[in-house]
Amino acid sequence: MPQEIRLNAFDMACVGHIQHGMWTHPRDTSANYNTLEHWLGLARLLERGLFDGLFLADVLGVYDVLDGSPDAALRGAVQVPLLDPAMIVPAMAAVTSQLGFGITANLSYETPYLFARRMTTLDHLTNGRIGWNIVTGYLDSAARAMGLGRQMAHDDRYDMADEYMEVVYRLWEESWADDAVRRDAAAGVFTDPSRVRRIRHEGKQFRLDAAHLCEPSPQRTPVLYQAGASSRGMVFAAKHAECVFLNGGPAPDVAKQVAALRALAAPRPIRVFVGATLVMGRTRAEAEEKLAEYRRHSSVEGALAHAAASLGIDFGRYGMDEPIEAGPGNAIQSNVAAMKRATGPRFTKRGLIDQFILGSRQKPMVGSVQEIADRLVAYVEETGVDGFNLSRTVFPECLVEVVDQLVPALQERGAYKTAYAPGTYREKLFGAARLTDPHPAALARG
Ligand SMILES: Cc1cc2nc3c(=O)[nH]c(=O)nc-3n(C[C@H](O)[C@H](O)[C@H](O)COP(=O)(O)O)c2cc1C
Repeated sequence: MPQEIRLNAFDMACVGHIQHGMWTHPRDTSANYNTLEHWLGLARLLERGLFDGLFLADVLGVYDVLDGSPDAALRGAVQVPLLDPAMIVPAMAAVTSQLGFGITANLSYETPYLFARRMTTLDHLTNGRIGWNIVTGYLDSAARAMGLGRQMAHDDRYDMADEYMEVVYRLWEESWADDAVRRDAAAGVFTDPSRVRRIRHEGKQFRLDAAHLCEPSPQRTPVLYQAGASSRGMVFAAKHAECVFLNGGPAPDVAKQVAALRALAAPRPIRVFVGATLVMGRTRAEAEEKLAEYRRHSSVEGALAHAAASLGIDFGRYGMDEPIEAGPGNAIQSNVAAMKRATGPRFTKRGLIDQFILGSRQKPMVGSVQEIADRLVAYVEETGVDGFNLSRTVFPECLVEVVDQLVPALQERGAYKTAYAPGTYREKLFGAARLTDPHPAALARG
């Protein structure tokens, strides 16, 4: 029996997410991202396809590394304009009952006290379907927007995040006892004050002396995601993440990363999702035709603006065939490594542009529905990943095809669920309601 494959839609509350330029395709409706109908339709579609979740990326700041200007990003709708992902979730939760929501939130600019309340609110309103992709940002433009000169150094951001996690775990797990809310109308006691604990924290980055404002939500701590696979990122993931999101790539490379992550996290289990872009047709020829058609709408400028910011390299300074000096940098180190793997040792602008294909950092998987189903099953076997975060191309057709054609093909192979497991997001993923020892959130419970 093949291993079960889990699917998340990888999206963002904006027009151009990963495959830049697709909004210019006549069938693409991503420019409706600022309407509720857009998100309600997506949520219903994903739940019909038994997707585990909708994974929402987010970024603070604009992409202004290319030519030192945000113009290319603005022109091409490259992750700007961008809405707040947390705000669109309750509406989607109201029209679904099983779909999980993984929200990316940057912890660098919001105090733990405020952020903990926002996540608890969402966990209540979704009945325990919230996940959090923990990020610290990678843009100096965000730091400047917050009144700082530049962002913290790469590894220091992870150190700061470690302390942040300590504080939010205490708010979520320690502050209110399970039996704190009595709701005893006869006695006139809603909350038993003796069961609510004030959290005192005096750390390097954060100070706090307060009880959590919310009563415990179904999951307390949201399902924790992390995407960042530098050495320091792996150590952070091994300590905190329940799910890790990796860039795609050749199976042997990804298999190594997965094995290293799991070894670091052991005995804690980690579910791993890998990014993928699918272009499917009834036949391979139809898929190739579709790729060519999509490609005519892709934006190389948009892709360069995105890559420049996430790699921390201004490609505007390089000629087409000039070797690019790409050290680890202060942005996303695992993206630099993934790009080098994809283009080979000679890292040039022309090589990058060849890789972009649909205007992104990922090479699409192209083939008939049956071929793609076989390749996904094989990839999971070869790498040990649990599933895929599917980035969008032309929306919504790219996901309608997955739900109506690919999911049944995977089900025929015994590689996809035929019904949701019961319970919260964490219960669906791990069969357990709460984080357990040795996870630091469980230790915070005391
Ligand atoms: C696949 C992938 C997706 C990511 N998505 C986001 C995102 O939506 N928002 C964000 O601020 N950072 C995002 N990041 C950045 C990382 O989460 C991380 O905080 C950081 O930039 C450092 O990564 P590194 O350890 O690989 O250097 C992403 C990284 C990867 C590899």
